[in-house]
Amino acid sequence: MVEKSFKYVIVGGGVSAGYAAREFEKQGVKPGELAVISKEAVAPYERPALSKAYLFPQGTARLPGFHVCVGSGGERLLPEWYKEKGIELILNTEIVKADLASKSLVSAAGEVFKYQILVIATGSTVIRLTDFGVQGAEAKNILYLREIDDADKLVEAIKAKKNGKAVIVGGGYIGLELSAALRMNDIDVSMVYPEPWCMPRLFTAGIAAFYEGYYANKGVKIIKGTVAVGFTADANGEVKEVKLKDGRVLEADIVVVGVGGRPLTSLFKGQVEEEKGGIKTDEFFKTSVPDVYAVGDVATFPMKLYNEIRRVEHVDHARKSAEHAVKAIKASEQGKTIDAYDYLPFFYSRSFDLSWQFYGDNVGDTVLFGDSDVTSPTHKFGSYWIKDGKVIGAFLESGTPEENKAIAKVARVQPPVDNLDLLTKEGLAFASKI
Ligand code: FDA
Ligand code: NAD
Repeated sequence: MVEKSFKYVIVGGGVSAGYAAREFEKQGVKPGELAVISKEAVAPYERPALSKAYLFPQGTARLPGFHVCVGSGGERLLPEWYKEKGIELILNTEIVKADLASKSLVSAAGEVFKYQILVIATGSTVIRLTDFGVQGAEAKNILYLREIDDADKLVEAIKAKKNGKAVIVGGGYIGLELSAALRMNDIDVSMVYPEPWCMPRLFTAGIAAFYEGYYANKGVKIIKGTVAVGFTADANGEVKEVKLKDGRVLEADIVVVGVGGRPLTSLFKGQVEEEKGGIKTDEFFKTSVPDVYAVGDVATFPMKLYNEIRRVEHVDHARKSAEHAVKAIKASEQGKTIDAYDYLPFFYSRSFDLSWQFYGDNVGDTVLFGDSDVTSPTHKFGSYWIKDGKVIGAFLESGTPEENKAIAKVARVQPPVDNLDLLTKEGLAFASKI
């Protein structure tokens, strides 16, 4: 039996693992002290590329182009980087058992990895339609997107079903980004989701109306208020039809499902405290078990700004939480402390020639400002969220870097407002003067 020992082990090889490795190197690790164990076959990369340029017909992104840490403007960590720094990058290795009491991990192949300090960075997995028994959901070409292998399957399907028909199930991030990517590949796209408008966990009805109109103009057919309840397949087992709850039947050569993610915490069930579906941490990403940290999608952490415990499934937090945890680990070794994590939520998305950013919290009253007319050339519009007389969240489509900085500042500063009509009229100018 192979047994290896490391001072630090990062389990998971995604965004937060890559940013954690870079921070360990910055803070100083000796050769052989750090291992990154990933079930993926490639070194950590910027996952957001998979639903965007990886699928584009032109200007296509491929590895090694988008390894971390290019997403935040940093140096690209190629597989050689880990070698040069004496960091063991252990790929194609799924951990199937974790014993936090004896500080050991076991891989599917039976290797044992011992650690002194563990960083859990296992991210999320997709929720599958087969998880809730949707009839026929195991047919070929019903695809999901989380890892690069999934993206490769999508690329294959797009090639094989040239000018074919796709049904996108789900109206969230994956739904919106994949509808656009497939449409750009000249696929006939229909989107199906149960809610009255797309991306309801963030968008207001006003924001969603713009994107739905824009997508419709690009030829995406939107079917709201219903769900896929079954699929039929052809003689090869490939999906042919999507049956909807409202009785409609849609033809499909490809189905892409984006009905949400689930944090990968099962390895640690019963061994560590959990909350809100994730692994509970303090403001330094320390879990309830000594020497065990959790970062990225799996961490449920104190969000100081809102005095609440939350989990965040976005890349900016994956990067920042990883860096913060490593700084805290290194500081505690030197008997020092660092400031508590003080996170301002930041989400973004891009599709077609659109690009939005959101900062802060999306609760309270809202105002829509700017030009949200689908047919106008600028598309510069946004929204503020107002709670207890203060602006606490801001959304902006097609902002310049300066304008995006301004809305981030508004969400952080939380300036008071008393007249919402005036705020609507002022729009972006309100943020720019803060
Ligand atoms: P991440 O999922 O990146 O990495 C987890 C890693 O752990 C994977 O390598 C996995 O294989 C590995 N792993 C899991 N279990 C394991 C085990 N038992 N043994 C070994 N390895 C294991 N966010 C955003 O803000 N803007 C955006 O545009 C996008 N776009 C986007 C597109 C797509 C397609 C996805 C799937 C997600 C996004 N996101 C995003 C979300 C963002 O990518 C996500 O929040 C981060 O990748 C989370 O980083 P983590 O490191 O926590 O998980
Ligand atoms: P999501 O939570 O954004 O959206 C899920 C959507 O699924 C819901 O909005 C709803 O419309 C739909 N839905 C739920 N049940 C359904 C059903 N039975 N039938 C049809 N539709 C149903 O999740 P996602 O889009 O799958 O994204 C997965 C993960 O990837 C999330 O963690 C997300 O944050 C991340 N991601 C983020 C970005 C980004 O930040 N730009 C991009 C891609 C993925």
